[in-house]
Amino acid sequence: MLLTYISCKLSHPQFDCLGNLMNMATRQGLRACMFIGSAREKRLGDRVSKFMISQMKKTGWTVDVVDAAEADLPVLKKPIFFYDKSEEVPEVLGSILDKIKVADAFVIVTCEYNHCLPPGLLNLIDHFAPSAYSKRPSGIVCYSPGMFGGIRAAMQARCLLSEINTVSIPNIFAIPKVNNCLDSDGNPTDDHMISGAQKHLVELEWYARALKVARDADNDKQ
Ligand SMILES: Cc1cc2nc3c(=O)[nH]c(=O)nc-3n(C[C@H](O)[C@H](O)[C@H](O)COP(=O)(O)O)c2cc1C
Repeated sequence: MLLTYISCKLSHPQFDCLGNLMNMATRQGLRACMFIGSAREKRLGDRVSKFMISQMKKTGWTVDVVDAAEADLPVLKKPIFFYDKSEEVPEVLGSILDKIKVADAFVIVTCEYNHCLPPGLLNLIDHFAPSAYSKRPSGIVCYSPGMFGGIRAAMQARCLLSEINTVSIPNIFAIPKVNNCLDSDGNPTDDHMISGAQKHLVELEWYARALKVARDADNDKQ
């Protein structure tokens, strides 16, 4: 239905060219890079990331994961863009950069610590230049065992995501009382989880496809 809507909108003569490009883009699969911000032992974030990955795969996304716990980066000493060409870049940074470069969209799975973003998430993101993330949409999935679902951290994530040149999509998927909504394997135990996730993903896909068309058009000009 979404694609029909986009096609109708783009059938206006003004959008002929963009419409054709959009149709080309819709035939290709999309790839997302998911950042898991909590590095805490026994984190609830695992439930959220597992759930989101399964929802994304169902709708045809390929998902690469960048995990603050697994990457285990030192507190920022040298971002990747400060390495000289003659210097060897640590493998962990190189492999994360590869995932960032090929992404059509970013998904930020974040908890909230003291009404702020978790330090592992900021540390991960700051290791890479804003240009690495440019011109791709970003979706925020926040959670908390409390009533507010980490929404205050989400507001900060939105500022950060704009600052690194991504387009932060309007929908934020906030999950309050996360331990009641997802079991430890990431299976939903609340009816609203799937509809909430899918609403978020439909919007993310729209922006991912639109920006892919625009990036491809830029590349054709070069
Ligand atoms: C240092 C710290 C600060 C926290 N601050 C908040 C907060 O401001 N708001 C909130 O909703 N929960 C807060 N919490 C509770 C977290 O939401 C909860 O621990 C959650 O499980 C964190 O996600 P994680 O398990 O994936 O790390 C805090 C937890 C810690 C450890």
